[in-house]
Amino acid sequence: MSAAPRPWIEAFAPATISNLGPGFDCLGLAIQGAGDRVRVRRSSTPGVRLCRVTGDQGRLPTEPEANTASAVLIELIKRHAPGAGLEVELDKGLPLGSGLGSSGASACAALVAGDAALGLGLGHPQLVDLARDGERIACGSAHPDNVAPAIVGGVVLIPNLDPLRLISLPAPRDLWIAVYTPGCEVKTADARAVLPKQVRLDQTVRHAARLGLLVHALHVGDLALLGEAIVDELVEPARAHLIPGYLDAKVSAIEAGAIACSISGAGPTTFALAASEERATALLEILEEAFTHNGVAGKGWVDRVGAGAQITSKQLH
Ligand code: HSE
Repeated sequence: MSAAPRPWIEAFAPATISNLGPGFDCLGLAIQGAGDRVRVRRSSTPGVRLCRVTGDQGRLPTEPEANTASAVLIELIKRHAPGAGLEVELDKGLPLGSGLGSSGASACAALVAGDAALGLGLGHPQLVDLARDGERIACGSAHPDNVAPAIVGGVVLIPNLDPLRLISLPAPRDLWIAVYTPGCEVKTADARAVLPKQVRLDQTVRHAARLGLLVHALHVGDLALLGEAIVDELVEPARAHLIPGYLDAKVSAIEAGAIACSISGAGPTTFALAASEERATALLEILEEAFTHNGVAGKGWVDRVGAGAQITSKQLH
């Protein structure tokens, strides 16, 4: 007699904006307006079966070891539930190669659903650590600054990887974010390949000082200081040429009064910060105009700092 099917558990994980200027590979925030959904259910067959992938126009790998959603579940089972079996469905809401933490969102949604399906009750550090494995598979680098905010929500600093430490920072209430994804793609691996292998000491000192200022600005809720802090002279200059129109867009947004404007993660998504919804909406139009003028019209929206990955439903189907 075959066992009754187990319920599908669905989780949502948000898009993330990582780096935030001087926080390369150690700082990121979750946003509200976009993300990925993953459904997971227990199976009596050991291992992980990737049953369905939608929303990716057939571009993502479907082998369980190569797709971040299923790959992190293989690792989850290996570390925490040897011999267990899971079935997975991935519904991509985020564009690939966008700089919005797309691979990380898939991994985080899968882990939160998988953790619930197996009844493990893992904590944030364990989930983030597993999700970093997905980043390694997606782009060859296990950076934590997308997956940490995608799991924890809000603004997260990752000051240490071994042992992994996650520090939640306060997000100013009046912070609004214009998010624009131009109509081009940047592979994270390519965006990392152009980075300098060594940087000058004076630049490093300024970078460290800005990261300190950024943390202070968040704690005191001072958006002007936050704007001063979101300057990146190490990574952004090496990547700007990968995004057609980026420098135009940035200059226009800053001239129009943006608190800050920078590349989201590895790009091409560009974000601009404002102190009100109206200002953010005006900045969004400016970003749209600049990228359209440069032949890479895309999609944008106004967003806010949001929550981390969550279970959205449990159902039989
Ligand atoms: N911190 C990483 C980078 C994020 O900028 O390469 C990539 O999503």
